[in-house]
Amino acid sequence: MAAKSTKSISVIAGGRIIDPATQLDVIGDIYLKNGLVERIETRKRSLKSAEKIKSERGVYDARKKIVAPGLIDLHVHLREPGREDEETILSGARAAAAGGFTSICCMPNTDPPIDDQETVQFVIDQARDAACRVYPIGAVTQGQRGESLTEIGDMVHTGAVAISEDGMSVVSAEIKRRAMEYIRMFDIPVIAHCEDASLSAGGVMHEGAISTRLGMRGIPAAAEEIIVARDIQLARATGARLHIAHVSTADSVRLIKRGKRDGVKVTGEATPHHFSLIDASIAESFDTNLRVSPPLRTEKDRKAIIAGLADGALDCIATDHAPHSVEEKDNEFDIAPNGMIGLETALGLVGKNLVNAGHLDWPRALRLMTINAARITNLPGGKLAAGEAADIVVFDPEEEWVVDPEQFYSLSKNSPYVGWTLTGRVKLTVCGGKVTHEDR
Ligand code: DOR
Repeated sequence: MAAKSTKSISVIAGGRIIDPATQLDVIGDIYLKNGLVERIETRKRSLKSAEKIKSERGVYDARKKIVAPGLIDLHVHLREPGREDEETILSGARAAAAGGFTSICCMPNTDPPIDDQETVQFVIDQARDAACRVYPIGAVTQGQRGESLTEIGDMVHTGAVAISEDGMSVVSAEIKRRAMEYIRMFDIPVIAHCEDASLSAGGVMHEGAISTRLGMRGIPAAAEEIIVARDIQLARATGARLHIAHVSTADSVRLIKRGKRDGVKVTGEATPHHFSLIDASIAESFDTNLRVSPPLRTEKDRKAIIAGLADGALDCIATDHAPHSVEEKDNEFDIAPNGMIGLETALGLVGKNLVNAGHLDWPRALRLMTINAARITNLPGGKLAAGEAADIVVFDPEEEWVVDPEQFYSLSKNSPYVGWTLTGRVKLTVCGGKVTHEDR
């Protein structure tokens, strides 16, 4: 990664510095040098100098803002190779920077899929000038066909940070088991999209009272939970690291919690849409941007996911940023593809629906978007300390803003939040000491 911006900042002054990794929560100044954090000074000691340097070049005035490690997203769909009209690696990374992210992991369901060493290298090469660090995730099976395992070792040696079949599950438990046995030697996780296709086939939304009333084919909660349970048992048997993607049901949260209690190496993520929206929203608008996989569930599920984020059953927040073209989404609900974009609205939804709603404070919310995510895929970063890369986000936790698709850097606009007022606005993103986004 080498962000193109030439603007550099030497001090981020006077902000509330929150670093969950080191349990820092102070007012102070962060000094940057050669792309790294040089030192952090608390405001008490540096009050005078902060006032003095306010007008100097290279000083960013962060008073009344939160200064945190750059956000990390383990679940992003960039559509390159294959659908560069929807998102490229560079456009997705630019959208990530606007959302406060400095590291993203990209899923392998491209065309062709990221299922070999060459394609992993292709992503790394394309990301060289990107506005954030981009880490590829390799497929579990060749062509994501569910038949034979990919050359996992080659992909890991080239730079893949995890394997996943995201978009679907590995149908065969035997193949999944072999993948899990194999990854133990690399200390990477398998990221599981949990969906039993025999139960979800033909479904377009959560199966329940609303789908029945609307006459829409439903996807039962069990379609997810059966595979969550299966994969936890496989992780238990193999000792492999399992990360459950986009958890959508209360019972999935419960299964992960129980797995953790039993010592299984299982972690889980929640998306902003699964803690912000429910199936009933579909009945109000039939907005195809509300069609996602797994589907939006019930209020009970939404509450369980929030409780899971608060009590540690779930480890991180990941966007599942899934760009789709207007032509594909501008269709009947039945034929529109699954997915919504999320990089540029994630922080504002966390502010609105988790922090302002009283479920989490900022230090706990930021932990789910920084160090916890970094640990799952062994990424560097996620922490603010002398000698660490200067990957930093500065945001105004109070600022309310209205989602306007014209402002998105993503090439796709499939967001159901258009017109929503969100809380928490990214002001500055710095990656490797370089400014990758500044809100003016
Ligand atoms: O909604 C989704 N969209 N869920 C997935 O798992 C895949 C993604 C996509 O690639 O569009």
